[in-house]
Amino acid sequence: MASAAGAAAPGAPGGAPRRRPPDPRVQDSLRKATVATILASIAGHEHESAGKVFKNVKLLGEMPADDFVRYMDEQVGKALGMVCVNCHVAGQWESDSRKNKVIARQMQQLTNDLNAKVLPTIKELDADYHKVGCAMCHRGTGHAENAVPAPATAPPAGAPR
Ligand code: HEC
Ligand code: HEC
Repeated sequence: MASAAGAAAPGAPGGAPRRRPPDPRVQDSLRKATVATILASIAGHEHESAGKVFKNVKLLGEMPADDFVRYMDEQVGKALGMVCVNCHVAGQWESDSRKNKVIARQMQQLTNDLNAKVLPTIKELDADYHKVGCAMCHRGTGHAENAVPAPATAPPAGAPR
């Protein structure tokens, strides 16, 4: 059935993309369901440290296990527009076999260093500046772009130039 212009089915002839970009709402509910499963599997231990509860946490081991799993969703997955299995093999959470996970751990180190070593040397900053997190560079995608999108519309008539 014909649909509205620009909404051709993925893979349709005529240059339409084979895959739609991931829908952030679908990703969000997939991540939330996975978080719920993992929290249920560590019930009774969720307030112990992530380093104790999980097998291969090298940088964020001090975080309580429940906060750590929510961090995976709200700070890591959401910031990158990724679901858990973009970095993990489901059920083998400790495995480092996915490239994105290996990159992500080094990105966590970079983020820690910026917050702990680099930014504190800029003495003129206001005390309450936002700490660096994945979202600050990634803005919902794996490709951290060094550009601000052009304004979507022309300025209103009579706007100051
Ligand atoms: C962008 C990559 C990335 C995404 C997306 C991601 N993770 Fe992680 N995950 C990591 C990294 C890196 C570590 C290891 C952190 C460390 O060493 O301090 C980790 C560790 C874990 C661990 C510890 C496993 C163990 O036994 O060592 C669990 C559990 C986990 N993640 C769950 C999740 C869940 C649930 C999601 C989705 C809501 C998710 N992760 C999304 C990168 C990711
Ligand atoms: C200072 C900016 C900055 C911060 C902060 C940052 N990243 Fe990145 N990240 C980048 C750049 C630049 C790339 C390379 C992007 C590209 O390939 O287009 C990248 C790439 C990645 C990739 C590979 C994605 C792909 O599709 O190839 C992952 C995974 C990743 N970052 C995870 C993280 C996580 C997790 C955090 C937070 C703990 C984080 N990054 C914080 C700048 C940043």
